[in-house]
Amino acid sequence: MLVQVAETLNARSALTNRILSAIVIPQIALILLGAAAVSAGVSKGLTPLRRLERALSKRSKLDLKPVETSNVPEEVYPLVIAINDLLDRLKKDIESQERFVANAAHQFRTPIAGLKTYVGLAERIIKDEKVSPIMSQLNSGCDRLTNLVNKMLSLAKVEPNFVTTNKTLLDLNEIASRATSDLVAEALEKEIDLTFKNSSDQALINGNETGLMDMVVNLVENAVHYTQKGGKVSVSVTANEAVTLLVEDNGPGIPIEERERVFERFYRILGNEASGSGLGLSIVKEIALAHNATITLEEGSAGGTLVRVTFERMKKGS
Ligand SMILES: Nc1ncnc2c1ncn2[C@@H]1O[C@H](COP(=O)(O)OP(=O)(O)OP(=O)(O)O)[C@@H](O)[C@H]1O
Ligand SMILES: [Mg+2]
Repeated sequence: MLVQVAETLNARSALTNRILSAIVIPQIALILLGAAAVSAGVSKGLTPLRRLERALSKRSKLDLKPVETSNVPEEVYPLVIAINDLLDRLKKDIESQERFVANAAHQFRTPIAGLKTYVGLAERIIKDEKVSPIMSQLNSGCDRLTNLVNKMLSLAKVEPNFVTTNKTLLDLNEIASRATSDLVAEALEKEIDLTFKNSSDQALINGNETGLMDMVVNLVENAVHYTQKGGKVSVSVTANEAVTLLVEDNGPGIPIEERERVFERFYRILGNEASGSGLGLSIVKEIALAHNATITLEEGSAGGTLVRVTFERMKKGS
């Protein structure tokens, strides 16, 4: 006897669909739900780390104070403590290096001043044409050393706590005009027309007086130093939404490709006959950084250098 069982194709395909919807679809849904739950969990777990990352990446390199631990969740607490410990060691290390540089520079000052006095004395006593060029070399060597030591002292002073922690509300007009006056004699010697123009309104900023004096002196000194005899240097302050210091000269200018490198320590542009230690602009940059100011080097209207430093403007009583 032959029993034949048959099923239509439609019925089979309906069965397949039923199996699919009963087993596979719930499983896919389960997998998707699981993935979403894992992703939400990981993302929630990483939130404190993201907060920490944001807080650290927003910091200036001068800010080495410990990370706030009060709102830190338990899981990241040991990490924050380790970071704070590292910041503390780094701060102490930097402070001890600064102290060393400042002390060393300070100790150099007295013997160099003595050397300069004796060279000057010898120059006056020995009137020998063979010795005079040597004496004059010795004299300019002393001047270069004095400049280097003074710049190293300035650099040690601006890093990293001094400038940031000793700020008061002050008028940049007053500082810029005083610093410019300090260079009048040097400008006269080179027959350079050195001018200062203040802003019509007060240019109030939150700043460190010594640091800002150093900044303007270094910028005006460069302008006078690198501009040819008979040139022109103008210093001005403007006070609009921001307070801006502009130092412009009609000297040789700084090529675009050098405008970042000149801020590096001891970097000087080759082929320049003027003497210097290559520290001035790095001091200026540190001071700008400590004031949250931006500094740019541009080409001036007469083809020379235009240095622009922009500060946040403060209101009286702020
Ligand atoms: N106003 C300027 N015009 C042309 N070149 C400039 C000007 N200012 C700076 N420079 C170039 O940038 C270089 C770096 O300047 P920076 O003030 O850092 O060092 P320096 O003047 O050589 O030495 P010092 O430490 O005595 O200031 C200079 O050597 C010079 O070549
Ligand atoms: Mg200089």
